Amino acid sequence: MCGIIGISSNKPVSANIINSLKKLEYRGYDSAGIATLSDGEIYEVKSEGRVDNLENNFDLKNLRGNIGIGHVRWATHGIPNSLNAHPHSSHNVSVVHNGIIENSTILKKYLINKGHNFKSQTDTEVIVHLITEHLKTSDLEEAITKTLKQLHGSFALGIVFKDMPNLIVGARRGSPLAVGYGPNENYLGSDSYALKSMTNKITYLDDGEFCVVKKDQVVFFNENGKKVNKKILELSSDEANYDKGDFKHFMAKEIEEQPITIKTGIKEYVDNLNKDINIFNFPWKTKEIKSITLVGCGTAYHSCLMAKYWFEELTTLDVNTDIASEFRYRKNRFKKDNLYIFVSQSGETADTYAALDLCNKNSMKTCAVVNVIESSIARDSKFVLPIHCGPEIGVASTKAFLGQILVLYLLVLKLGSLRNEIKIRDYQEKIKDLKDLPELIEKTLLHDNDIQAISLTFNEAKGSMFLGRGFSYPIALEGALKLKELSYVHAEGYPAGEMKHGPLALIEEGMPVVVLAPRDNYYKKTISNMQEVIARGAKVLLITNKSKDEVVSENIWETIEVEHTNDDLLPFLLTIPLQKLAYYSALKKGYDIDKPRNLAKSVTVE
Ligand code: F6R
Repeated sequence: MCGIIGISSNKPVSANIINSLKKLEYRGYDSAGIATLSDGEIYEVKSEGRVDNLENNFDLKNLRGNIGIGHVRWATHGIPNSLNAHPHSSHNVSVVHNGIIENSTILKKYLINKGHNFKSQTDTEVIVHLITEHLKTSDLEEAITKTLKQLHGSFALGIVFKDMPNLIVGARRGSPLAVGYGPNENYLGSDSYALKSMTNKITYLDDGEFCVVKKDQVVFFNENGKKVNKKILELSSDEANYDKGDFKHFMAKEIEEQPITIKTGIKEYVDNLNKDINIFNFPWKTKEIKSITLVGCGTAYHSCLMAKYWFEELTTLDVNTDIASEFRYRKNRFKKDNLYIFVSQSGETADTYAALDLCNKNSMKTCAVVNVIESSIARDSKFVLPIHCGPEIGVASTKAFLGQILVLYLLVLKLGSLRNEIKIRDYQEKIKDLKDLPELIEKTLLHDNDIQAISLTFNEAKGSMFLGRGFSYPIALEGALKLKELSYVHAEGYPAGEMKHGPLALIEEGMPVVVLAPRDNYYKKTISNMQEVIARGAKVLLITNKSKDEVVSENIWETIEVEHTNDDLLPFLLTIPLQKLAYYSALKKGYDIDKPRNLAKSVTVE
């Protein structure tokens, strides 16, 4: 999950490469680098840390060259320092790489025996030297084809050559790569986002393909080096979403945008006039589907888990959830009457994509719930349900989570109704209730000062727990994930009823514990579990919903009451205070909220 940019132009390219790299930092930000070609030389600059560091350390304005490649890195092989930063170069070839070369150790030995010297600890450097070696005896296309055949693993590559000063080669297997077309210049980028400020005309490379990008021409080749024709897509423009506006952080903006996220989702999918859900072009007869498997990673996995509870509550379908990195290597029993749903904000997550690919190879029914509709997961799924959130820039997923659970909920209702498992009256009632959801989220967002104050206690503690049952359990997991990834405080999400089977031993005097106990079917049980942790010294933050009945429980440290709505929709509201808790906790600690340490927005490696 690194970011790649390449530009071939009739004017100097370094400023545009830098701008694009800044946009790509969501893919990785532990080091950055650029290589340009000018006067028959490769000029390479690289730095540890952010793109800003690169700008501060070098006089990039005077970096000459009408052709160049750039990279932001998220380290896989070798520590994040300037030596391991990309590009990596030999005397005549310079490479930027996203992905992992699995056979790099063997290839390195082979190349050292041939007299090549290695400077870094990366797997990428073998690509540089393989190409250099093949160019001794082959022309460009042949050298690239031979090199790609020797590489095991996944990659997206941008390559420039000292002796061919008018072209960039791009290649892809596993990791995404796009070509963009501009006036008197053409581009290479690890996704359309990097290219959007320069063009909305894009072609995506397919696995195994490579391309030669010149300022006035792009030629594509398949894995055997044969020319192929590719379609040019026109992308929609949503530049405004890439601006923080008056917010301090993208995450703060994206949390506040959630009423709009839900409003847009409802507008896209709900037919209020006919009280129906517009999921009509479903490619399979609903009777053909007997069970469902939902697959995702991290926050997207929590959306899958949320959907499982709804599916089980409202339909008779058998439902499984799976973490993509586990799914892809298990011996799955593929079933023709199973629908496989892949949930992903970016649509590029390598593990989720691999799980989808496996299902496609086994001719399964595949459906994607994604935000980025131009993504690989969207393109390769048989049916796509976009969440219409607009770009999510903060590394920690917020509005995409709400967008995902909304679309999944609508799918549950639609399938339940088509299968006659939800009565028409209930179906229409539930659709009606959705109308108020944006406003209820808006009201819940008003909890702010209280959460800021509460966050201090979480920061001072050694660790914390997030407990919930039923519909609230996936939200507890999500709350804990947000806190740990942003404020680097250990936080554990747990089913409230499971505490007594071990984790209760963790509870000590003053430990902050979030208990999600809305007034649903699980309420009384959760309140009992809450008492068990209070009795052992926990400082409980109870999050429930407004009700005419008071909470009858003693010694609760703090209570937050979200708005009242039907049980199905409470998870949307419970999520909001947890996102804010994580945000304020990290803010108080002065951490980099939009780019937490060690993480990246789009995880395109295993
Ligand atoms: C956490 C977070 C990650 C992502 C995960 C999957 O806040 O954002 O856990 O949810 O990396 O990413 P996507 O949804 O792009 O597949």
